[in-house]
Parts: sequence; structure tokens; C-alpha cells
Amino acid sequence: MSLGRVFVTRRIRDAGLDLLTKAGAEVQVWPGGEDEGPSQDEVIEGSRWADVLLSLLTEPVNRAVMEANPSLRGIAQFAVGYDNIDVGVATELGIPVSNTPGVLTNTTADLTWALLLSVSRNIATGDQYMRGGHYKLWGPNLLLGEDTSPGGDGRRKVLGVIGFGRIGEAVARRAMGFDMRVLAYDPYAREAIEADDQAEWAELDVLLGESDFVTVHTVLSDETRHLISTAEFEKMKPTAYILNAARGPIIDEAALVVALNEGQIAGAGLDVYEREPEMVEGLAQCENAVLLPHLGSASRGTRDKMATVAATNAIAMLRGDRAPNCVNPDVYDSSAYAGRSRN
Ligand code: DGY
Repeated sequence: MSLGRVFVTRRIRDAGLDLLTKAGAEVQVWPGGEDEGPSQDEVIEGSRWADVLLSLLTEPVNRAVMEANPSLRGIAQFAVGYDNIDVGVATELGIPVSNTPGVLTNTTADLTWALLLSVSRNIATGDQYMRGGHYKLWGPNLLLGEDTSPGGDGRRKVLGVIGFGRIGEAVARRAMGFDMRVLAYDPYAREAIEADDQAEWAELDVLLGESDFVTVHTVLSDETRHLISTAEFEKMKPTAYILNAARGPIIDEAALVVALNEGQIAGAGLDVYEREPEMVEGLAQCENAVLLPHLGSASRGTRDKMATVAATNAIAMLRGDRAPNCVNPDVYDSSAYAGRSRN
């Protein structure tokens, strides 16, 4: 007998799909290709068919999707971020929502550092220079980047971390190897920052004004949307860089283009965009920006782990157990959840 039905909104790694099948679930994966996603109607149809929806960050999971199925027993997100899901509505309707925390922390922190080094040391530009056949002779002035190490001008560089959750803290930890001073701002983690061996608490304005690199690692919420905009770029040093491997809308992309073009800051390293996959006009032309297609967790091993965690959560939901990574645990005490489980 089937454990229940799982609709997967886009193909994930086999590690997760195999786990679901072995547990006895009936699995349907949206059949489209890699460069497209299901329409809202297709997600609604999938939700109607399923007991559990295994969702990706590319698909809005809104009231229409959730109300399509009064028997939906859970939403297992294949990502640590879940801003595509209306969790308020899920809780109101008695639907547990889970994510995949922990397994992508180091991979994403590494990518943040790849962006930092790439933009400040002209790695991407140098690569294009070589491939374009422009390298004629070594020169003392060729593609000079900023110095991320404590040497050079004899001053320790400052890394400013906004958002001190798992990933922000892992990014900060990596700064030790570069002997950097780390400032951190996160109104929800002040105690953790103050207890941290490496990071020092700083108010946002102080962090912006003193950092050579500012990196954002907050969740996307109404509070953090456009957290970094014109006024914040104006507070940064003209030699400083901004990095974002969290969620695009945390940075006002139009203001960023102005800041990059007018030399308010030295450069940007971005893995995420405000209206992903689109970029705001002018960004692609900014030579002082390194731009990646949301690769933060893109290693096979990490994606296997994300698939496994998402599947494990989905299986728990099918069994009527608590999902290990539930983001709205209060739902389990609600009458809406109790009523739904009786369906
Ligand atoms: C996440 O998990 O939220 C990343 O953006 C994709 O891995």
C-alpha cells in the first residue's frame, strides 16, 4: 500500500527521489526541463493530486496552491530559504512547512568567499582577458585588484556580516584565515555575536562605514527587503565591496547599479537577484560586478543532502509524524492541523 503521494515541483537529485520511493511513497515529478518551471496552474494541479508538496524556491506556494487541496499534509521545501511559501497561510490552514537547514551552510559560505575574492582580485575579469587573447605582456599595472589580505597597506581589512545565522557565521569563520577583523549586525543574534570569538557586534551604520567587504546573509522578509539601498551605499567606503548570496531583494538592485556606476562602492559580487532570473537594466554592463546564477548550494554532494533532507521531511509528513525541520512547529498544536489530519 502506498504511503501517500508526493508532487515534486521540479526534478531534484535521485538521492531524495529514491528515499521517497523506498519509503513507499508514490512520486510524481513535474516533467518539464531545466530552464523552465511549472506554471501556477500546474503547481495547483500537483497540489490537488498530492498528500505532500515537495517545492523548490522557484515556485510560489500561495493560498491558491494550498487551498486547492484540503487534505494536503505538508510542504517540504528543497532549500533553506522559504520566502516563496506563504507560511502564514500554511499555518492558518494547518499545513506544516519544512526546509533544509545546515546541509548547505559551508557550500554557500565558500561561494560567498569565491565572490569576495573574484570581484576584489579580478578573477572573472582576468579569465575573460585571457580567453579574449588580450594578455600580451605582464605589467605592473595590469588588472590591479584590492588587497583582501592584511598586508599591502599594512591595515587589517574589515568584513561586515549582516545576518549572523548559520551561513553568516560560517562566512565570518573563514575570515580568520585572512586575518580580518569581523563586524556583525543581526538584531536577532546580538548575544551570539557578542559571545563569538571572532565577530564584534556593530550597529548597521557603523558596519557599513567601516567594512571593506559587506556581505548579507539575512532571510528575506518585509523587514529586510531593500535593507541595502541608496542611503546604505552612501555610507560605504568607495573602496568597499558588497556581496549577496542570500536573496536578491535584500539589496535594491537599481540603487546598486547607480552605486557601481558612480563609484560609491568599488564592486559587487552577486549570486541572487531582485527579480530572478532577470537583472535590473544596466547591471550586466557593470564591469565591477561578478554575477553568478544562484550557485550558492550548487555542489552535487550538497544537493544530494538537500534532496535527502527534503525527502525525510516529506516522509515524516506522510506518516503523520512531526517533520524534523518544520519552520512553523506551532501548527502541530492547532485545530486546523488536527482537522486536516482527519481528512
Ligand atoms: C537556499 O537553500 O535557500 C538556496 O538559496 C538554494 O540552495
